[in-house]
Amino acid sequence: MRISVIGCGYLGAVHAAAMASQGHDVIGIDVDPVRLGALREGRVPFHEPGLEQLLSEGMSAGRLRFSTQIADAATAQVHFVAVNTPQRLGGDEADLGYVEAALRSLAPHLARGALVVGKSTVPVGTARRLAPLLDGRAELVWNPEFLREGHAIDDTLRPDRLVYGVGDDPDAAERAQTLLDAVYAPQLAAGVPRIVADRETAELVKVSANAFLALKISFINAVADVCAATGADVNLLADAIGHDARIGRRFLGAGLGFGGGCLPKDIRAFGARAAELGEEAIGSLLREADRINLGRRHRAVELLRTALSSEPGAAASADQGGDLRGRRIAVLGLAFKPDSDDIRDSPALSVATELALLGAEVVAHDPHAVPKVRAARPELTCVDTAADAVVGADAVLVLTEWREYRELDPAALAATTPARLVLDARNCLDPAAWRAAGWDYRGLGRHEQA
Ligand code: NAD
Ligand code: UGA
Repeated sequence: MRISVIGCGYLGAVHAAAMASQGHDVIGIDVDPVRLGALREGRVPFHEPGLEQLLSEGMSAGRLRFSTQIADAATAQVHFVAVNTPQRLGGDEADLGYVEAALRSLAPHLARGALVVGKSTVPVGTARRLAPLLDGRAELVWNPEFLREGHAIDDTLRPDRLVYGVGDDPDAAERAQTLLDAVYAPQLAAGVPRIVADRETAELVKVSANAFLALKISFINAVADVCAATGADVNLLADAIGHDARIGRRFLGAGLGFGGGCLPKDIRAFGARAAELGEEAIGSLLREADRINLGRRHRAVELLRTALSSEPGAAASADQGGDLRGRRIAVLGLAFKPDSDDIRDSPALSVATELALLGAEVVAHDPHAVPKVRAARPELTCVDTAADAVVGADAVLVLTEWREYRELDPAALAATTPARLVLDARNCLDPAAWRAAGWDYRGLGRHEQA
């Protein structure tokens, strides 16, 4: 199949490379010349495990190329639209300007019989509303994407399910389904479930899935507060309830909460769209999840303050910045999750920034996100290794659960700092091992007290 992917960000670049890897002839289009320039040279402009390899394989096989010119997509049979749908400035709604612009620019170049497939996450009703932008030249369907950053290739090649949202005309719907089946032939042959629905259902499946994941995380974080108040252990609790197959253990990781370019903006946009439709219940449920989630960041800062002021020898300060002014804080992790360099709405970066604003001397490390952080927050000091960050720190804060932090040697680190206070905001360290090495270990939501 000849395929175009319009928008080559986290989603589009992965989709383009993955489709080329299954034998399709793919062109990726993006309006950002810097991003496109990197991709053209076989460089991935963000961190995604395995993507550079897949990209170079596709390019050297002659099945994958990139262009800034939408006209170069003219011969494609299937066009995937994977542009950004960020939160609108000053509101909760999704900004659909990029999707509209992409469809408008594509319309004059569509070949007869081509299919346009929306992959971006959009509010329900978008496909029906925007289909006329194609001037009747092609059918517009929606095929939402469920990949996770850090696992994007595997999630694309081996998804849990495929969802096709097709239009009302039965013949056009059948043609669309046939084309999508040809694109996803390897997945279908491997038995991946395929759900064919109307476009509204497909759009809603996507935002409901993200909303459910967000609710699950906020649920466990709300329970974590009760654990902290009673000395209970939220990790063991999550293991125990997670054994119930109806609940499941995944997405019950308590700590600093969710961030990133999707869950936060998607739950807000879902609530806003539902309210437009006169349906308030989902919005109020998700607003509470959002509130609980954002509260985790504040709780981490407050826990650090309390822990620092209870440390032996802590200098009580009457300054406005309180206990944090002048204190050296080692921040481990800045990306919104491990195996990604994405700092969009990163809880870790937000805590690091708040600490710096409160007067702390923040020394941060992240295995991959530092270049993005240096561009976005030049005022934060970043160092090359976790050990460098920890030297002489009054406290160590683990904000993203990178594997290399789980594998740190607490005894070796203890020798480099007299203070030995560690706040594990992702509950990813072994409290017993750190305590045995002389650290005052605190978790967020469990072991909050020394
Ligand atoms: P992104 O910002 O990384 O990438 C979007 C790209 O689209 C950018 O490179 C931008 O330059 C390009 N673009 C914008 N307008 C364009 C136009 N008119 N023509 C060509 N290119 C254009 O965003 P992303 O994270 O890849 O997300 C894209 C969409 O996919 C969003 O709706 C998001 O919610 C959804 N999604 C993302 C993920 C993920 O893990 N990132 C997973 C599933 C769904
Ligand atoms: C999420 C969904 O998992 C994907 O299915 C979806 O396709 C994607 O959003 C999207 O629509 O873009 P992603 O944002 O890449 O994927 O990352 P997740 O693994 O979902 O993590 C999101 C956030 O939740 C991270 O900040 C992570 O640290 C946090 N999280 C996750 C927790 O706090 N606890 C958990 O148990 C799991």
